[in-house]
Amino acid sequence: MRALFDRLPRLADMVPFVELADGLPTRVEQLGERLWVKRDDATSSRYGGNKVRKFEFVMPVAARRGGPMLTAGGIGSHHVLAAAIHGRRLGLDVEAVLYPQPETDDVRETQAELALLGGVRVTRTPHAYAMPVVLAARMAALAPRRPYLLWPGASTPLGTLGYVSAGLELTAQLPAEPDVVVVPLGSGGTAVGIALGLALAGWRDATVVAVRAADAVVTNAVVLRSLEAATAAILAIGGWRPRPARLVIERSWLGRGYGHPTTAGAAALESAADLGLTLEPTYTAKAFAAALDLADRGQSVAFVLTFAGGRPGGSA
Ligand SMILES: Cc1ncc(COP(=O)(O)O)c(C=O)c1O
Repeated sequence: MRALFDRLPRLADMVPFVELADGLPTRVEQLGERLWVKRDDATSSRYGGNKVRKFEFVMPVAARRGGPMLTAGGIGSHHVLAAAIHGRRLGLDVEAVLYPQPETDDVRETQAELALLGGVRVTRTPHAYAMPVVLAARMAALAPRRPYLLWPGASTPLGTLGYVSAGLELTAQLPAEPDVVVVPLGSGGTAVGIALGLALAGWRDATVVAVRAADAVVTNAVVLRSLEAATAAILAIGGWRPRPARLVIERSWLGRGYGHPTTAGAAALESAADLGLTLEPTYTAKAFAAALDLADRGQSVAFVLTFAGGRPGGSA
């Protein structure tokens, strides 16, 4: 049972759902006087992190179509690896369009895991901006087999429901509303979903700080607002009268751009390791740097750990 269906039982009969995450609810740990972490690294024993929560709501649609599932990401995309692992559990053929990103150890490890898994057809593009065109071309080529397009990052309104549920979990686990809930910002489903989950639980003060890890052309306030509106529309069908989510984009930890490690991120990654947490440079290191900084400034902070690293059998 998911927290979302406890809160809005009517939705259980109205949205697609397949159970893929065997680690829910993930636990919350206190790291310091003003700092908590929600361990979404442990959402699944197969491959955790943030994607599987979204897949529970989108992959049943792909399974119903029955054809191949096509998705996209950087060459070291956790999303693509997670899609390959969980898609296969549902018997889906998975295909990916991959674009270049700076090669870090984590990128190499993720690539190695995808190669080890085998059976994922990959098409490379020379640049991230060419990805949508190549994706469209592959969709056209696969059309006779009824392909399903798994939106990069799975941040569709349905996928975002997975993080609404995570937000609801969080509200039941913390002793009181923190000042901020800090998450990395990629395609946006994690941040928007959590913020809606907090509003749905009746929280009125905590603000979600979405720490930008992807370029503004991909993820920006307009995209997040429309994702929020569309997801809230589904929640309204479930019986909730929507209230605006409290969400801000924090731009100052991105550095040179998507996938480029930063000095602050490297320091945060080491601090996390001292606390027994595994981060990676693209998303979670930058977000944790922001979380530590906010806690240092006297804010009470809940950090959502979205990376599957440190898992049993994993390379990170
Ligand atoms: C480890 C990690 N954290 C966060 C994100 C970003 O989440 P979202 O796309 O929901 O903004 C990603 C996206 O790929 C990720 O791999």
